[in-house]
Amino acid sequence: MSARIIDGRAVASEIRDSLARKTARLTAAGCRPGLAVVLVGDDPASMSYVSAKDRDCRRTGIYSRDIRLPADTGESELLELIDDLNRDERIHGILVQLPLPDAADEERVIQRIAPGKDVDGFHPENMGRLVLNLGGFVPCTPGAVIRLLEADGTRIAGADAVIVGRSRIVGAPLANLMFRRGRGGNATVTVAHTATENLAEKLRRADIVIAAAGVPGMIKADMIKRGAVVIDVGISRLEDPRRPEGYRLAGDVDFESVREAAGAITPVPGGVGPVTRAMLLWNTVEAASRSLAQGAGGRTLCPAD
Ligand code: GUN
Repeated sequence: MSARIIDGRAVASEIRDSLARKTARLTAAGCRPGLAVVLVGDDPASMSYVSAKDRDCRRTGIYSRDIRLPADTGESELLELIDDLNRDERIHGILVQLPLPDAADEERVIQRIAPGKDVDGFHPENMGRLVLNLGGFVPCTPGAVIRLLEADGTRIAGADAVIVGRSRIVGAPLANLMFRRGRGGNATVTVAHTATENLAEKLRRADIVIAAAGVPGMIKADMIKRGAVVIDVGISRLEDPRRPEGYRLAGDVDFESVREAAGAITPVPGGVGPVTRAMLLWNTVEAASRSLAQGAGGRTLCPAD
């Protein structure tokens, strides 16, 4: 058996098309969605993600501010920038690329972003809303995983899902999304992490496996139940002198072997990554819509730029 390949680029392109139409409507109503992405330092992987986000915004009609700061930028300067962006009426979404260099405390920086502009969904208010199933911004990678499962037609409700990795960006919010009542939820979720014992045994019982550990190739075919759906969130750069860029991208899943056991699988690249970026645009357009709705009865909150 060879697994269905879940094509993240196609899913992302459909999401962007629908967002482009919504963006045009909001712009016509005087509220062009705007996103600010802040990158501190010059980590090559982060630089390429941030450039891709900027390109996605442009092709969807979203106003984009790409702010690059040196690695030694102090925390107070960063907090002042966030205060400015919180006040800026052209900006509906703010993303500070993580990880931050040591000079700034990530927690304080995230908490400074106005919850209504926190399109990453990392602010405690949005995380709390997610856990309590009260709406709010869903973090982009977990949102993308659900979109990919839905696009594949995978049954989530009632399924046994194992998430490998408990990070704040992926594992922890995804577990909450998948077990909560409602769309994309109602699964029985196990979250595996570095202290988990008998990981392979747990994985072999799973109908859905989400690999988000950041360990290239750790999920092998003999850990996967036949027909399971495998979503690979991992994306590591491995040195490869045969390639012009000098590296290749590798997921957490040993793709060539696992595709023979799985029912469906996402590739790396071209799986979760493009849909994650599309979900960032989704949250930005949602933030602009909310802002317009709030401003309708009073002061215009988002004038056309
Ligand atoms: N670094 C890796 N993934 C993410 C993400 O989803 N958001 C932010 N802000 N930084 C990241």
